Amino acid sequence: MYAEGGMPRKFSGTQFGRARSGAPGRDTMGSRQEERRAFLRMGGAATVALGLGSFTGALQGAAQQSADGILTEPAADVEPLTELVSDAADERAWTSLRSLFPLRDDRIYLNSGGFGPASWPALQTRQRAELEIAEAGEEQRKRMKTARGRMATFLGCDDDELAFTAGTTSAMNLIANGLALKADDEIIMSTHEHPGGAMIWIKRAQDIGCRIRLFEPGDTAEATLNAVQALLTPQTRLVMVSHVTCTTGYRMPIKAISALCRTHGCLSVVDGAHPPGMFYVNLRELGCDFYASSGHKWLYGPTGTGILYVRRELLDVWSTPLAGAYADASYSLEEADFTPLNKARAVEVGTYNCAAFEALAAAADLAESIGLENIARRGAFLAEFLKQNLLQITGLKLLTPLTEADSASIVTFQILNDAIDPRDLLRVLSERDGIRLRFVGEHGLNAIRIAPMYCTSTADLQLLVDVLRREIR
Ligand SMILES: Cc1ncc(COP(=O)(O)O)c(C=O)c1O
Repeated sequence: MYAEGGMPRKFSGTQFGRARSGAPGRDTMGSRQEERRAFLRMGGAATVALGLGSFTGALQGAAQQSADGILTEPAADVEPLTELVSDAADERAWTSLRSLFPLRDDRIYLNSGGFGPASWPALQTRQRAELEIAEAGEEQRKRMKTARGRMATFLGCDDDELAFTAGTTSAMNLIANGLALKADDEIIMSTHEHPGGAMIWIKRAQDIGCRIRLFEPGDTAEATLNAVQALLTPQTRLVMVSHVTCTTGYRMPIKAISALCRTHGCLSVVDGAHPPGMFYVNLRELGCDFYASSGHKWLYGPTGTGILYVRRELLDVWSTPLAGAYADASYSLEEADFTPLNKARAVEVGTYNCAAFEALAAAADLAESIGLENIARRGAFLAEFLKQNLLQITGLKLLTPLTEADSASIVTFQILNDAIDPRDLLRVLSERDGIRLRFVGEHGLNAIRIAPMYCTSTADLQLLVDVLRREIR
């Protein structure tokens, strides 16, 4: 409908990611693809019977529209899917959700922790918003306000506490650069931090003369809390930890760490790259002072989106490190005056990509329509499937905690045979089998991380396990 009035009608299939037919592969891949196509055909029919109703209709409609260049169905039409996928082990229901994504038949997507493919509702919303904004001929910042409000509700905070960013790394830079640190301040971090969360603190510490103190996370909440507590001193300015580590997928006890920091009189900063979209996150309930996250991982939102959270009580301690249009409460060029806006969104300076953040809000809508409890249970079910199977392979060492409370939807393992370089194996798995995983080099772990989507089938995970059993002897 937006093609009218001189709007461009043609978008290439790859640009908006219509599922491509399977590329020719090896024999095993061929039969796997055949199996999956048959399954999807069945799933496609089944979805209607199972009650996906207008949602599936919307998606199929969108796919047809996209062949002609335009995606139309808004995410708001999505019917709640919570009933359909209430059983974490219901393979047919969960794998039918593949139709929500522009996935290729010849790939197994096991890197949600690095880059989760954007869903159709996110892609559709982005395109629709881009077109509407172009038609209006203005940037339309009020659309940002609506999207920010939606994300604030999704994450359990106030609008004024939230800002849009390009991802976790940029949010963490904005947190670190907005705090006045002084020489001799101490910053506590875990040894399992991602460079996107940790590097800016090292830079700031180098610039100012702060001391970085590292602790090794334990396998349990108690062990981790004890390790943090042991490093607290009167000089401790803040503790920065991952909510779920990028390495082993260990889930840190954020609520307890935040409470400990508050009692001690220091700040709690959380690298939350993974949890939103992976399980229910309520920032106020967590009680941390700052939180940084990405939209292009487990939320399956558009690339280059993220959020920054600053707890309301900290808006007087932290101040935007950026300046420009929208950063100010008051500004006068003539009087050389700039007073920063006392809200997190003061970092959203200049012209922003509204459409991307509307699409992020659509990604949050989708996650809620599936149900965050359902998604978390499915993630735990798939992780458990992997753990139980990997434990049977003698040449591997599982690094992820076995307990559900201390882990999430990520499973990481090391190869015990030194003659096998995990990076070589990952290359083979990607090029030969179409299996996308991630190498874990952080903390010298030299490990492999599996981060499935909720619509990943156990059949695909079994295929991975079988390949690993053959390759790792
Ligand atoms: C724990 C953690 N922090 C930060 C990042 C960086 O995220 P982004 O690239 O969205 O800035 C990642 C990315 O994988 C991560 O796993």
